[in-house]
Amino acid sequence: MEDRLTLLVVGEGGREFAIAKKLKQSPHVATVYCAPGNIGMLTVGVTPVNIAEMDLNGLLQFAIEKHVDWTFVGPENVLCAGIVDKFQLAGQKIIGPTKRAAQLEGSKDYALSFMDKYHVPTAKHETFTSEDEALAGLADFGLPVVVKENGLAGGKGVVIAQDESTAKKVIHEMMAGPQTAIVLEECLTGPEYSLFCLVAGDQYRILPMAQDHKRAYDGDHGPNTGGMGAYSPLPQLADDDYQRMVSEVVEPTIHGLVAGNYDYHGILYIGLMMTADGPKVIEYNVRLGDPETQVILPRLKTDFAELLQAVVDDRPLPAIEESSQAVLGVVLAAKGYPQHPAYYPSLGKLPAEDGIAIDYANVTGRLDDLYGSGGRLAMVIAEAPTLQEAAQRVYGYLGRLNELDCFYRHDIGKKAGINIQ
Ligand code: AMP
Ligand code: GLY
Repeated sequence: MEDRLTLLVVGEGGREFAIAKKLKQSPHVATVYCAPGNIGMLTVGVTPVNIAEMDLNGLLQFAIEKHVDWTFVGPENVLCAGIVDKFQLAGQKIIGPTKRAAQLEGSKDYALSFMDKYHVPTAKHETFTSEDEALAGLADFGLPVVVKENGLAGGKGVVIAQDESTAKKVIHEMMAGPQTAIVLEECLTGPEYSLFCLVAGDQYRILPMAQDHKRAYDGDHGPNTGGMGAYSPLPQLADDDYQRMVSEVVEPTIHGLVAGNYDYHGILYIGLMMTADGPKVIEYNVRLGDPETQVILPRLKTDFAELLQAVVDDRPLPAIEESSQAVLGVVLAAKGYPQHPAYYPSLGKLPAEDGIAIDYANVTGRLDDLYGSGGRLAMVIAEAPTLQEAAQRVYGYLGRLNELDCFYRHDIGKKAGINIQ
C-alpha cells in the first residue's frame, strides 16, 4: 500500500462509528468518509457525508467522484438491497456479500435451508406461508416455542412464546402483517455468543468473540432490542467449546459458502448458543454486530485496513492478533426504546475522560449539545487489563453523569462472572 487510502463506510450507527474510527487509526489510511454517518464521528476524524444509506446511486457516484479506494458496508438492509452487485458492476471495490449471499440474513428460511444442506447444527425448525398451516404445525413443537418473521425485522421479529395461546396470537399477528412467511423453532437454551468471521472466498479469519445483551432491561428482562451492551473477550467460554464452534459450525459454514459458489467477501456473523448438545446456530448475519463491533475492534491488533485490503485484493489474509486487554461497553438508549423511543432526548456533551471512549450512534445537533435522533444514542466504552476493571470504569463514569435523559443496563458483563456495584 504505497498511497494512503481514501475509504467510504456506509451506515450511521455506533457500529459504523467503531469501524470508521478503527480504519482512521491505520497508518495506511488518509481519509474515511461515512455516509450518512453521524455528527459524533467528527470527534474521531471521520467525515460524515450527507447521502442516505439506501441511496445506492448516490453512494456509487460519491465513491467514483472522490476516488474512494474501497467501500465497507455496515448495515444488512443495504447489503440485501444489492449494493455490492451494483458497485462491482461499475468496477468499484467494495467489501460485503452480494445480494444472493445476503439472503443468509435477509430470509430465515433461506439460512435454515443452507444450514440443513451443509449440516450446520441449528434448532429444529419449519417454515410456513399460511396462518392455518402454522397453527397446525405448532403441535410438532414443545413449549416454549420460538416464532420468527422470515424477513428482516431489525432484531425485533422474534417472540419466544411460553404458552400455546401466546404462540397462536403471535402467529396471527405476524401473518396479518407484511411478512409472507414465518418460522417456528424449537427453543434452545444455553449461553449465547457472537462469532464474527472475515471471509474472502475460501479463506477466513475469526475476529475476537463477544457477548451482546439483547433484552432492554437488567437481568435479561423486557423486549428484544438491537443490543444494549457488549464485552470481549469471553473468559467463561472454555477452549474446548470454542474449538467445537470452529469445527462444528464455522468450518461447515465456510465449506457451504464455497460449495454454493457464493464468492463471499465480507463479514459473516454467526449468532450461536452453546447448548447441552453442543454449539447451535441461532442466526447468520452478513455484517458486523452492533454493539459487538464497538468492543471487538479495539481488541484487534492486526491493522484493520491491511486486513480488509487483503480481502479486496484476494491475497492471503494476515493472522488475527488479539490484544490481551478487555473491553466493555454500555449503550445509552432513549427512554421507551425499542417500542416508542423518546425523540430528541438531550445528551448534552458527554465529558471526556481518560480511559473512556464514546462511540456515538443516533445523535444530531452540535458536538457540545447533542440530541438523540433514534433509539440507541451512544456507547460508553472502557479498555482495561480485566473485564472487572473495564466495567468499574464504565459504570463509574455513568454514575457521575447527572440528569441523564436516557437509560442503560446496569449488568453488562455479569455473565462473565464479574461484580458490578
Ligand atoms: P434473532 O432475531 O434471530 O437474532 O433472534 C433474537 C433473539 O431471540 C436471539 O438473540 C436469541 O436470544 C433468541 N432466539 C432466537 N432463536 C431462538 C431459539 N431457537 N431458541 C432460543 N432463543 C432464540
Ligand atoms: N448485536 C446484534 C446484531 O447486531 O444483530
